[in-house]
Amino acid sequence: MAQVVWTDDLSVGVERLDEHHKRLFDLVNQLGQAIQAQDAKTTTGQVLGELVRYVYYHFGEEERLMHDAGYGGLNDHRKHHRAMADHVRQMEINYDRAPDTVAAAELYDFLADWLVNHIRSEDQMYRGYIS
Ligand code: FEO
Repeated sequence: MAQVVWTDDLSVGVERLDEHHKRLFDLVNQLGQAIQAQDAKTTTGQVLGELVRYVYYHFGEEERLMHDAGYGGLNDHRKHHRAMADHVRQMEINYDRAPDTVAAAELYDFLADWLVNHIRSEDQMYRGYIS
């Protein structure tokens, strides 16, 4: 399974937020490694729990910096965050209720795609506005 790989063109120009994004990549890759090792069932719940907590933390910090900078795209950006946070939270709830309903490979694909696309599009738009 391919890994999500950090490249310099993903930088948003704020070291702290780049570190957050790298941490999110690490969590997604942990899930990918667990799938490869056929240990996905145990690890899915652990990664999901950590991911949900970290997603909420990261989004909160990013939104706070956008707010403090008076960034005009905050409301639209926040909607993207809420949709993503709700989705992973729902996956966590589904997993807690019935682990077999959460397919690890599907979860991996969703997270990898969403993260890379979001950082490349919405996050890049605040580059230069916040520091
Ligand atoms: Fe880095 Fe908008 O999430």
